[in-house]
Amino acid sequence: MQFNITHYHIYIMDIIDLVHKQKSDFNELVHKRHSERFYFQKNKVNMDAKKLLDDYCSTLTLGPFGTKTIIASTDQYMGTFKVIQYEGDKTQCPYYYIGAIASNLANPLKIGLIDFGYNFEKLILFATQLGFGTCWLGGTYHTAEAENCLKLEKGIPHKIVCISPVGVCKKPSEYGFLQKILNKMLSGAHSRIPLHKIFFVNDFNNPLRPDHPPDALKIQYSIKAKQSALMAILDSFRWSPSASNSQSWRVLFMEKEKCFAFFTSSSSSFYKFIDIGIGMLHWEAAAIEYGMKGHWDIDNTLKWSTQYFKDLKIKLPSFCTYHFAWVME
Ligand SMILES: Cc1cc2nc3c(=O)[nH]c(=O)nc-3n(C[C@H](O)[C@H](O)[C@H](O)COP(=O)(O)O)c2cc1C
Repeated sequence: MQFNITHYHIYIMDIIDLVHKQKSDFNELVHKRHSERFYFQKNKVNMDAKKLLDDYCSTLTLGPFGTKTIIASTDQYMGTFKVIQYEGDKTQCPYYYIGAIASNLANPLKIGLIDFGYNFEKLILFATQLGFGTCWLGGTYHTAEAENCLKLEKGIPHKIVCISPVGVCKKPSEYGFLQKILNKMLSGAHSRIPLHKIFFVNDFNNPLRPDHPPDALKIQYSIKAKQSALMAILDSFRWSPSASNSQSWRVLFMEKEKCFAFFTSSSSSFYKFIDIGIGMLHWEAAAIEYGMKGHWDIDNTLKWSTQYFKDLKIKLPSFCTYHFAWVME
C-alpha cells in the first residue's frame, strides 16, 4: 500500500506556513524546540495563541496509518514527581494537552503509537512556533486525572499515550538555583548521536556522508536552508525528541530502490513506535520544506520484510525493527 502524502501534509503545511510567516524555516523550528520543564504562571499565556493551538489540535484526527487520535486540553495539574515546575499555586500550572488513540481492532497498538507520535509532534511543533514551551510526558503524569479530562463517553475504547504541558517557559537565565541543578542533570538530553550513527547507505556498515552523497541524492533541491537541503533534512530528523533521548532510529538509504528505509534498534515495545512516528513527521515536513519529493511506503508485510533484507545480505543491527520507507519520486 502506498501512502500519498497529500492527505496529511495539509496539516504539516499549517506548521510550515506559520514558520514562514515568522521568517523562519522548518529546521530552525526543530532547533527551537526543547523539552521545557520550568514555567511561568498560567495567566501569562496569550489566549489568542492558545485558541490557534486548540483549533489546530481539532484537525489532528488521523495519522498516516489511519488511527484516530484524540487530543484534549485542560487547565488542571497533571504532572507527577514535580518534573514540571511552575510559579504560584496549582491554579497557575501550565495548560496540559492530553493525547490518546482510539483502540482500533484493524490496527495493532504499535501502528497506533506511530500515528500518535506523528500527530502529537505536530501539536508540539505548532505550539513551539506559537512561542509556547512543551515537554513530551509518557510516564510522569496522573493517568486517572488525564482520563477524566479526556471526557470520552464511557465504552469508547481508547488508550491515553502521552501528554504535554503548554505554557510560557523560563529561559535558562531565569532559572532558580534548584532549576539550574535539575537542568544540569538533564543536560544529556540536549545532545544527539552523530549523523553517521543514524544514516547509512545500502548496508549498516556504510554511513551516509552528506558531503559525499550517493548520486541519487545529488539533486538540486530548492534550498531555503543555510546548509545543503539534504543536510537540513537529515538534521531535522536527527533532532527529533525521543523517550529518554534513546534515539534508536536508524535510516538506510537504498540506492537501487531510491528509498530511505526507517528502522528502530531498540528492545522497547512501546516507546520505539512513538519515537519513530515523531521522526516520520520530522522527515516528511523537512522533505516538503526542502523539496525532496517522495511518498511513504507503509506496507511492511510484503517487500520490506526482515526476510527481504536478509535476502539482500543486509545485516540488521540488534533489536532492529523495520517500520516504513520514504520512496523518492
Ligand atoms: C515518547 C516520549 C516520552 C517522554 N516521556 C517523558 C517523561 O515522562 N518525563 C520527562 O521528563 N521527559 C519525557 N520525555 C522527554 C525526553 O526525555 C526528551 O525529549 C529527550 O531527552 C530529548 O530532549 P529534548 O526534548 O530537550 O530535545 C519524553 C519524550 C518522548 C518522545
